[in-house]
Amino acid sequence: MAIRPVLRMGDARLLERARPVARCDTPELHALVADMQDTMRALSGAGLAAPQIGVGLQVVIFGVDHNPRYPNAEPVPHTVLVNPTLTPIGEEMEEGWEGCLSLPGMRGLVPRYRDLRYQGFDQRGNAINRLVSGFHARVVQHECDHLAGILYPMRIRDLRNFGFIEELFPSEDIACD
Ligand code: NI
Repeated sequence: MAIRPVLRMGDARLLERARPVARCDTPELHALVADMQDTMRALSGAGLAAPQIGVGLQVVIFGVDHNPRYPNAEPVPHTVLVNPTLTPIGEEMEEGWEGCLSLPGMRGLVPRYRDLRYQGFDQRGNAINRLVSGFHARVVQHECDHLAGILYPMRIRDLRNFGFIEELFPSEDIACD
């Protein structure tokens, strides 16, 4: 398929609300997901939402392999999630550093629900229903925010915790977003 250009913050399309996918298991949806996977892989991202490549549909992908360079990053299963709904479990929030392919080179400290249930469908229309916490829950909240036109800086409580990776973490070897 194809690596697609990723829209960057400031592009008004990132602020729009995405529409639900009417039907799963169509050639169009499979092609969209393949492009998203190619794009995320090429940029070493942890997740990508369809609006980031200019497609206003409720489709997100995410997944993090165990990486010995980042032993503290918990692996997250590679997932395609269509028409998601998120239900927080409890009210506990925790802060964590996030990046985004639409803000290359930057990081921010973002509060997210620690525990949540997410539901939706994979690209073939199989139901997905998972109870997750921690980093997995964070990644899902970040990606699904894109479907509501929300970028992570809009969630940061103290903008002093927002900046360029090289300045925030000068001693760390962080190469990707
Ligand atoms: Ni993002």
